[in-house]
Amino acid sequence: MIPIGEDGGKPMGLKSSSAATAVDQGRGNLLKYLCCSGLIALVPIAIVNCYVFLVYSSLIDQEAVLYSLHSASLGANISTRDCDLSKGKWIPDAAPPLYTNETCRYIQGHQNCLKNGRPDRGFLAWRWRPDECDLPRFDPALFLRAMRNKRMIFFGDSIARNHMQSLLCAISQVEEPRNLYRDPIDKDVIWLLPSFNFTLAIFWSPFLVKHEQRSSNGSTIMHIHLDTPEEIWMSRLHEFHAIVLSSGPWFFKPSVYYRGGSIVGCHHCGDESIPPLSFIDAYRMALGGVLDSIAARDGYAGTTFLRTFSAEHFENGEWWNGGTCNRTEPFRNQSAVELPWMASEMRRIQVEEFDRAAAKNPSRSKLKLVDVSYSAYLRPDGHPGVFRSSRTLTPDGSAVQSDCLHWCLPGPIDMWNEILLKTLLAREP
Ligand SMILES: *[C@@H]1O[C@H](CO)[C@@H](O)[C@H](O)[C@H]1NC(C)=O
Ligand SMILES: *[C@@H]1O[C@H](CO)[C@@H](O)[C@H](O)[C@H]1NC(C)=O
Ligand SMILES: *[C@@H]1O[C@H](CO)[C@@H](O)[C@H](O)[C@H]1NC(C)=O
Ligand SMILES: *[C@@H]1O[C@H](CO)[C@@H](O)[C@H](O)[C@H]1NC(C)=O
Ligand SMILES: *[C@@H]1O[C@H](CO)[C@@H](O)[C@H](O)[C@H]1NC(C)=O
Ligand SMILES: *[C@@H]1O[C@H](CO)[C@@H](O)[C@H](O)[C@H]1NC(C)=O
Repeated sequence: MIPIGEDGGKPMGLKSSSAATAVDQGRGNLLKYLCCSGLIALVPIAIVNCYVFLVYSSLIDQEAVLYSLHSASLGANISTRDCDLSKGKWIPDAAPPLYTNETCRYIQGHQNCLKNGRPDRGFLAWRWRPDECDLPRFDPALFLRAMRNKRMIFFGDSIARNHMQSLLCAISQVEEPRNLYRDPIDKDVIWLLPSFNFTLAIFWSPFLVKHEQRSSNGSTIMHIHLDTPEEIWMSRLHEFHAIVLSSGPWFFKPSVYYRGGSIVGCHHCGDESIPPLSFIDAYRMALGGVLDSIAARDGYAGTTFLRTFSAEHFENGEWWNGGTCNRTEPFRNQSAVELPWMASEMRRIQVEEFDRAAAKNPSRSKLKLVDVSYSAYLRPDGHPGVFRSSRTLTPDGSAVQSDCLHWCLPGPIDMWNEILLKTLLAREP
């Protein structure tokens, strides 16, 4: 068991799990692309014939009370609980970021854009202004007061980790976190903010459901059990007061899908004896099952946040053939910008499964959507690009591959915490 919280004692070993195998072998480089089969049936081939996406493996190196919280007792002014925070625009904001590479020690190298030499600072001078209300700047002290004696955990992939580090950086401005646990490759990490007795954790679970990675004949195939929430977090659910779920990009990988232990289909797995199953359908089954399992879980009475899909911004190519993201400001004509097809589909599944699960869950108030897809898509300027590394040129003088998927810290991803906090504090109707 991974101990959590102040009274957790000394960290002990983490039982190995299939999750561990998911953090790939290949370090130090972007790798793996995934072609989306199944798409072809869904959209005109002219639009998407073979959509390619990236997954980074290099990242390794490196209740009960929540819903009774009252904004008034915390000194917050939460006036617009029904405001849709997902629609709005980025407006100029001269306030400095809550933290920098100098004041936060928890920024992963690949997202430490300032330290890695990113020259422009304009991308830090915007704030999200929802159409219907004001979104207050993230107040780490308010967050910590709201989370006193609570445990919050992120489950997900490297973008979940990116978000968790953003939150950690913000709250570390109030108090230095103490590390309670860290697995050897930083997949599963637990922090404590001692004077608030607030525990912040992340467990690596890129599909949220059980999976294993198998290599054969030089290619790697994910074997995904669509109906089985991953044990590493499902078994520990009752220990948490708030969980932040996210998933998406890993479903683009070549995969074999299982239900009830039997193969039900595959996505670019290279085995023609297995019927194709679109990853879009597979994703819906996996996410829907996870949300239902959480709602049905005895002993878990926490608040569940589902964070929606965060799109990539490669331009002039894809990640493997010179694609870049070197813009320095948000899309100009924000209200005219639409989510690209892939992001729009992934978000649609998330919102539909969220609505379905919330409607049938008697304690629906504890399921919250953190819908960042649109606001994030407006920020092509927020990614590390070549500043994912301090060495932006390869030995032969060409530019290193760009990271246009993860987000610089500090950066636009910090806004996600504003939505998290506002959602956390919103009074129930
Ligand atoms: C809350 O905010 C609204 C709108 O910004 C303002 O009119 C109101 O006076 C505020 N209330 C308190 C108690 O600060
Ligand atoms: C932070 O980044 C700046 C460059 O913007 C660099 O000069 C400085 O050494 C970095 N500080 C730390 C602590 O990494
Ligand atoms: C710290 O918080 C945990 C729950 O996260 C609780 O069980 C424990 O009693 C708290 N400790 C103190 C000293 O309040
Ligand atoms: C393994 O890969 C080689 C070369 O691509 C191919 O010729 C062979 O048929 C593959 N074997 C299997 C079992 O897929
Ligand atoms: C941005 O990248 C493109 C190539 O993808 C290049 O043509 C352009 O000059 C770059 N802009 C800046 C400001 O570096
Ligand atoms: C900006 O808005 C105009 C008119 O609504 C539209 O034609 C144009 O494509 C938009 N530009 C972008 C970048 O979305």
